[in-house]
Amino acid sequence: MKSLVILISGRGSNMQALIEAGLPGRIAAVISSKPGAEGLEIAKMHGIKTRVVDQRAYPDRAAFDAALAEEIDSCQPDLVALAGFMRILGSSFVDRYHGRLLNVHPSLLPAFPGLDTHARALQEGVKIHGCTVHFVTPQIDHGPIIIQAAVQVLPDDTTETLAARVLQQEHRIYPEAVRWFMEDRLEFSHNRVEVSGTATDGAVLYSPELHK
Ligand code: GAR
Repeated sequence: MKSLVILISGRGSNMQALIEAGLPGRIAAVISSKPGAEGLEIAKMHGIKTRVVDQRAYPDRAAFDAALAEEIDSCQPDLVALAGFMRILGSSFVDRYHGRLLNVHPSLLPAFPGLDTHARALQEGVKIHGCTVHFVTPQIDHGPIIIQAAVQVLPDDTTETLAARVLQQEHRIYPEAVRWFMEDRLEFSHNRVEVSGTATDGAVLYSPELHK
């Protein structure tokens, strides 16, 4: 059975979605970059081992990355899933977990990498917004895309209403992508990810219109 380490920095709702999805794998640990992260309590309630690698305790990114890698490697996970992990990871960290480091991001990448994605989507007047699960590369919020979910932007949307609908979709697609990884169904070809054994063409694109 494959195992997973989840990295968080805050609320942990994506972590919770992964925990409650009944994945075909073991969650070896949840590691937070912040001591008071709400997600730590949720993980503990589920009986999952938690650790904190406090970002403030290290003089620079390299030292933090090294401490984080040590904590991760002590669990020997097959997969590392960033779930609202709000630290930029250095390229040697990313390379160390090449092909087994996933992230969920609240936009339809490559649009709106970085922060404040919902406000920026509203500002730009896009009609479709959403979220993405992708393999992590050293470039921030970038890398081979596994699955995306589209959300219609409504005329009266606020940052909060739009964020809430996108988050609902994050909770659907992240467990799906992790499940595919656990089942060895993700294949790279020319920087694109194919999902083997997918029943329908639409499986890697969730859209409210397609999946009512
Ligand atoms: C989620 O919306 C996630 O996509 C985003 O932070 C939020 C964390 O919420 N991640 C990023 O912006 C990473 N670039 P959560 O802690 O409730 O899962």
